[in-house]
Amino acid sequence: GKVGVLYGGRSAEREVSNMSGSGVLAALRSKGVDAHAFDPGQRSLAELAAEKFDRVFIALHGRYGEDGSLQGALELLGVPYTGSGVMASSVGMDKITTKIVWLNAGLPTPRYAVLHAQSDLAATAADLGLPLIVKPPHEGSTIGITKVSEADGFQAAYDKAAALDDAVLAEEFVTGREFTIAILGSGAAARALPVVEIVAPEGNYDYQNKYFTDDTQYFCPAVLPDALTAEMQRIAVEAYRALGCEGWGRVDVLLRERDQKPFLLEVNTSPGMTSHSLVPMAARAEGMSYEDLCVEILRSARL
Ligand code: DAL
Ligand code: MG
Repeated sequence: GKVGVLYGGRSAEREVSNMSGSGVLAALRSKGVDAHAFDPGQRSLAELAAEKFDRVFIALHGRYGEDGSLQGALELLGVPYTGSGVMASSVGMDKITTKIVWLNAGLPTPRYAVLHAQSDLAATAADLGLPLIVKPPHEGSTIGITKVSEADGFQAAYDKAAALDDAVLAEEFVTGREFTIAILGSGAAARALPVVEIVAPEGNYDYQNKYFTDDTQYFCPAVLPDALTAEMQRIAVEAYRALGCEGWGRVDVLLRERDQKPFLLEVNTSPGMTSHSLVPMAARAEGMSYEDLCVEILRSARL
């Protein structure tokens, strides 16, 4: 059938999505799939309907692509799509609601506060300690995130995040190693791929170091005791299931240095598929090529 690769879009991660989409499009075509590019940032929903795709591969990141809104539109149009459904997509796009679901499921995630314009930043800093992390809850690719090391930098960090989102998330800073775990499949069949460790220059895995420099080092499979690898994969799959994620996704995890305890940071329900991206890296460590990964994700498309 006719396959649409949806990419681009209108979020702050548009540029990343362009890279993901061109990779996925080329991979699917190389496997003989009748794949067509469709940029939801430049074309309308009516045009999407008129394409009469038999299924679509969502290679969009962020708002209006990863957050459940497009998923809802595709449900209404009756077009099967890759990845999570409406609810898991929208919950996964909100880092605060995600934490609430995880805490309710007994899963570990760093302590946090939700900030608004009237919030007492000094009290928050006293409670969470410094450094702390300030995030706009609905962005991806580290956009709008600041590590606050001195109390007098908190307000500027808040303002930066508040420019992107209504509420702002402040999170306890967990000192330790940084990992990500790709998940394939749904429900009971969901499984973790090999763990990836990320070692960014000066611990700063920001937008630039994610996509545009070669200064970040990745280790896959990560060098960890077997029991810890298994524990991290287990909680990542539980975290994915707790949100009702489907098809594929990626869970970001910190391993606290002092007690080797893992903490869940966030889920990405439409993870990057660029040449620097981590789901393809994890798949490769299992002997699955980028092209085969794209085909497997496409096969899991449903309504
Ligand atoms: N938000 C980016 C695309 C990722 O998680 O890979
Ligand atoms: Mg993210």
